[in-house]
Amino acid sequence: MAKTIWFDTHSHLQDKAFASDRDQVFQRAKDAGVEYILLATSNIEDSRVAAELALEHQNVYCSIGIHPQEAGRWDQKSAQFLKKIYRDIGKKAKRLGRDNPIKAIGEIGLDYHWDNDPREVQKFVYKEQIRLANELNLPVIIHEREAYQDSYDILEWAYNNGLLKDEPGVSHCFSGSWQGAQRLIKLGFTIGLDGPVTFKNARKAKEIAAKINLEKLLLETDAPYLTPEPYRGKRNESSYLPYIGKVVAELRNAKIEDIAKQTLINGKRVFSIK
Ligand code: NI
Repeated sequence: MAKTIWFDTHSHLQDKAFASDRDQVFQRAKDAGVEYILLATSNIEDSRVAAELALEHQNVYCSIGIHPQEAGRWDQKSAQFLKKIYRDIGKKAKRLGRDNPIKAIGEIGLDYHWDNDPREVQKFVYKEQIRLANELNLPVIIHEREAYQDSYDILEWAYNNGLLKDEPGVSHCFSGSWQGAQRLIKLGFTIGLDGPVTFKNARKAKEIAAKINLEKLLLETDAPYLTPEPYRGKRNESSYLPYIGKVVAELRNAKIEDIAKQTLINGKRVFSIK
């Protein structure tokens, strides 16, 4: 039987939580069949670190961008800095005979749970980074927490202004309703599900996992956060992705290999990975 291969499309293995054993964490992911990983990022420094790390590993990719919880760090130079990272890493990758590992702009969006910065600032930075993604022809990774309607309005604005790709990206760790997911899918987005789908009380995430068109689903760990059962409460890592896939398979009465296979295809399609 062919080995089951997974794509963790949202992980933060560049995080300091992995400072002491990062190599083993990458190895365990590989051993678990999680052969593709996309490192999601939160600010300019984090973007640079993740991009350098991605260059060191086969089938490891990353985003660059400023997280809504850090929106206050955005200034007029931020887009230039991010573009410079994109160019510099692209050149380095070329010398190594690889494709540029930077595959998305993210995490971008709105976080009204923490509300670290004024909502108008968050909205402005969100839109600026959608423009940047358009300029670089990259999809976006959306972080939206307790801000569904405002985020949707901005995405609809982007859609109506031709700023979104045909495969515009993913609404990461989606926590909204089935109807909310359907509206994003109509704009072209995929939906990312994470560890919470394995939690008993995650009614909405389980409903989405059960009913969504499988071609519109991505699986993510968001490591080191959101650890799935049976490791809930411990540090998360990419090797735990199959626990999420297993629950999705059970909810759909599907084979786990088919979930792995289709979500890998989806991840490659959304992030333009050969
Ligand atoms: Ni994340």
